[in-house]
Amino acid sequence: MLLGVNIDHIATLRNARGGLEPNLIQAALICEKAGADGITVHLREDRRHTRDNDVSELKKILKTRLNLEMALTDEMQKIALDVLPENVCLVPEKRQEVTTEGGLEVASRVEFVKDFVTPLVRAGIVVSLFIDADKAQVEAAAKTGAQFIELHTGKYSEAFGTAEEEIELNNLKEAAALASKLGLKVNAGHGLTYENVHRMKEIPELIELNIGHNIIARAVFDGLEKAVKDMRDLIA
Ligand code: PXP
Repeated sequence: MLLGVNIDHIATLRNARGGLEPNLIQAALICEKAGADGITVHLREDRRHTRDNDVSELKKILKTRLNLEMALTDEMQKIALDVLPENVCLVPEKRQEVTTEGGLEVASRVEFVKDFVTPLVRAGIVVSLFIDADKAQVEAAAKTGAQFIELHTGKYSEAFGTAEEEIELNNLKEAAALASKLGLKVNAGHGLTYENVHRMKEIPELIELNIGHNIIARAVFDGLEKAVKDMRDLIA
């Protein structure tokens, strides 16, 4: 299985001080060096973490793939057609949400999504729709011209370790099998952690996992000891 690393929260930290550190490009290169198969950023309407120039810089520098997560707006479509990331993942977006809350609503607006996807695919971008593990959404996604879906693993992640875990995993398994039968390729992501990720291997259709928050959270602790020691050494 491939790993796409979402580095939005490097940008969150950088923006907290308004400067350039931690440097987003440096972070992306470290992820690639460590074996990431792609780098994901979500360019939000409010630019709360990743910004426009981050996206264009990443596109220039990455040796793997840039996966641009974005909402279905004219502004984002224009940016995607300008920057030409290798992958675009279309996500729903609400201004007030802390992170992407649910999957994209495709079933009730297939034509709208199809019209949005078509120019991106024509431009050579591989497009994915971030949807819930729901039969109607998968069937609708197959009619849009998008080559991939990304299954929302948030419910599975929340249910992990509870009585609902098997139900949520089964929903993902069924959605992945249906998508594959309909000719869609399947990725997954959201809320995956070092503890719950192993069960994704039970879904044979999965090509790539997109993981962000838990990797960046672990990186803080794995690097903190050295960071403190290095500073102590400098002032000893
Ligand atoms: N996939 C999509 C479409 C997302 O919106 C996000 C969160 O930005 C992720 C994957 C990664 O989720 P997490 O940060 O919880 O690993």
